[in-house]
Amino acid sequence: MTQMRPLIAGNWKMHGLESSLDEARAVAGALDGRPAAARVALCPPATLIRRMADQLESTGVEVGGQDCRAELSGAFTGDVSAEMLADAGAGLVILGHSERRAGYGESDSLVAAKCDAALRAGLEPIVCVGETLADREGGRTLAIITGQVRGSLSAGLAGKAFAVAYEPVWAIGTGLTPTLEQIEAAHVAIRGVLVEMYGDHGARVPILYGGSVKPANAAEILSIADVGGALVGGASLKAADFLAIIAAA
Ligand code: 13P
Repeated sequence: MTQMRPLIAGNWKMHGLESSLDEARAVAGALDGRPAAARVALCPPATLIRRMADQLESTGVEVGGQDCRAELSGAFTGDVSAEMLADAGAGLVILGHSERRAGYGESDSLVAAKCDAALRAGLEPIVCVGETLADREGGRTLAIITGQVRGSLSAGLAGKAFAVAYEPVWAIGTGLTPTLEQIEAAHVAIRGVLVEMYGDHGARVPILYGGSVKPANAAEILSIADVGGALVGGASLKAADFLAIIAAA
């Protein structure tokens, strides 16, 4: 498989006010337009996308959303469409994060519909999958994540830029991470489904790891075969930590 530049994406979740843009500027300032070994993106709350995109323009640091509605527009109070994210300056969007699957009952088929909405708006989806602790303890990890990949990716993604993020639910925000062997096994299983679904293109789709990625463990996680980057939560909120993870890529 061709080695591509890893994608290091920060998911700010529901954190960030105007003052937090200082951190985003610090990340871009430290990278200083250098052709980093990694592609770097930040996904702030929707309220900050326009301002962050303006401030990071021409820095090489990309901006993404954290979710979108599947519909183009309509009577969906409180929701944001893919077109709105793109209009605000986003180039990517995280879809199917476990916090949305668990908290809002998002199904695989809804996530697949959101993929199509993202593509229609010209956004690059980062589609998340991952097992719960009960799944892992029950020996169902690979069945769960391959099932999520099959159900959450739409046929329309063929030939389009997108990424998959393997995020074990029990590793998110807990400081726990799977062993390197467990991460590798998950990525190999996901790769198999991607190749089944998309052929040669599926062999090149980046598969990110997410779940308690920190400066201290980033290098070893990113060195695992077929880990094509990281989706970083808490450690993306502070420029110094996020930069240390980028430097490990
Ligand atoms: P943490 O890095 O805080 O564990 O969050 C991971 C995550 O959910 C990224 O989408």
